[in-house]
Amino acid sequence: MITEKIAQLTAEVSKLQAQTAQDVETLRIKYLSKKGALNELMADFRNVPAEMKKEVGMKINELKALAVERIAALREQLDEQSAESDDADLTRTPYPVRLGTRHPLTLVRNEIVDIFSRLGFTLAEGPEVEDDWHVYGSMNFADDHPARDMQDTFFVEAHPSVVLRSHTSSVQARVMERQQPPIRVVCPGRVYRNEAISARAHCFFHQVEGLYIAENVSFADLKQVLMLFAQEMFGKDTQIRLRPSFFPFTEPSAEMDISCFLCGGKGCGFCKHTGWVEILGCGMVDPAVLEASGIDSAKYNGYAFGMGVERITNLKYQVSDLRLFSENDARFLDEFTAAN
Ligand code: DAH
Repeated sequence: MITEKIAQLTAEVSKLQAQTAQDVETLRIKYLSKKGALNELMADFRNVPAEMKKEVGMKINELKALAVERIAALREQLDEQSAESDDADLTRTPYPVRLGTRHPLTLVRNEIVDIFSRLGFTLAEGPEVEDDWHVYGSMNFADDHPARDMQDTFFVEAHPSVVLRSHTSSVQARVMERQQPPIRVVCPGRVYRNEAISARAHCFFHQVEGLYIAENVSFADLKQVLMLFAQEMFGKDTQIRLRPSFFPFTEPSAEMDISCFLCGGKGCGFCKHTGWVEILGCGMVDPAVLEASGIDSAKYNGYAFGMGVERITNLKYQVSDLRLFSENDARFLDEFTAAN
């Protein structure tokens, strides 16, 4: 009979004893776990005639409360005992407190933002879920530009003109439409591309975008700022070089390499024996981009640049597999404790 079983268990539970934490755990498993005695009772409870359900149910509840309370009391008693014996020596050195570490990408993002803020740039941010206009249209991408293709862009299914931004250049447009020049901002953030995940590519990564709009801005201004950045980030002997390139939103456009800091430019496996490694894209903002966001391109001009935070982190810390950044393996993250 279930009532006898309840009575017997109640007697048992009220007399429980434990010597060690392991004993307490064994008791918890025996009575309170999924396969414990109390759950077994619940299975029997199903067969109790309806008119007795209320009374029996109350008894089971009381028994359960008793078991929970008794086991907690045993645990507390043991904790107190061990506290007495262990911590009684108030002169012993304290246990070390283990602090978490910042993620390497956060460290590098902060360092990039920090360098540019010393050069007078302020921080701007924009949404990760963006509309087609801010990601592509306002950035002077042609309607049939391949970057809009399914291969690159994640679309929000119900709204084909809403996308996950594939670059932080979208924040340029967001800033320009609400602010007139002078504009001097850096825009860090996460971006998404529809790529198969491997050591060298991921479906999300991070960029920092830079934008400077004023009167009479020259390509030399851009070059100077990027050189200062490279030397702050990678050491004062770092050299830069700018190679012609193409982006829809800048004209002229360039890609910037830095001298390989592992071999000092002599050539090694890391820089594929060229002495140079690529770190960012840049250029003079295309007048069409200024006009698209309501800025008078006859009066103002400027430069922009964009870099991948993972890329810079890989270079600075020689991380060879992009997947490490999103796996949260403590052994990897702990390696950056000193950089915090
Ligand atoms: N948006 C480019 C990308 O995702 C990076 C970039 C290149 C940004 C040149 C810029 C720029 O502002 O001027 O690859």
